[in-house]
Amino acid sequence: SERTLVLVKPDGVSRGLVGEVIARIERKGLKLAALELRTADRAVAEEHYAEHAGKGFYNDLVEFITGGPLVAMVVEGTRAISAFRQLAGGTDPVEKATPGTIRGDFGLEVQYNLVHGSDSPESADREIKIWFPSL
Ligand code: GTP
Ligand code: MG
Repeated sequence: SERTLVLVKPDGVSRGLVGEVIARIERKGLKLAALELRTADRAVAEEHYAEHAGKGFYNDLVEFITGGPLVAMVVEGTRAISAFRQLAGGTDPVEKATPGTIRGDFGLEVQYNLVHGSDSPESADREIKIWFPSL
């Protein structure tokens, strides 16, 4: 079994989609191993999105992700990393995510794409340490 770091981003929380996201994770057969509602400070956000530092959208992204409460989770199960990426859909909710995915069903804009999921085992290890250092 494998672990992945999932965020319901501030847009997902403010739109009341936390239950919807968790329901899809659970129906898929994945398990919650940790869950917390919190507001990310700038240091956590910059560490989480370090790979995007310097890109044109980076400052907006950090402002957005620190702009309100989010839900951070560790999700566990067989092939959890790719299983959740499939549930989330592609980064652009209109051009890439297909209907039936979280982003495809609920998103319109790239920045406000509702959820994050780790993209590799290395990212998952790194991100779980950032959000849940005690795990
Ligand atoms: P995450 O799971 O959030 O990491 O999304 P991803 O892996 O599908 O995309 P990526 O890591 O490439 O980008 C991280 C996040 O930055 C995306 O989820 C978007 O919220 C945001 N983002 C990516 N590209 C753009 C862009 O061109 N413009 C804006 N405004 N935001 C972007
Ligand atoms: Mg990513």
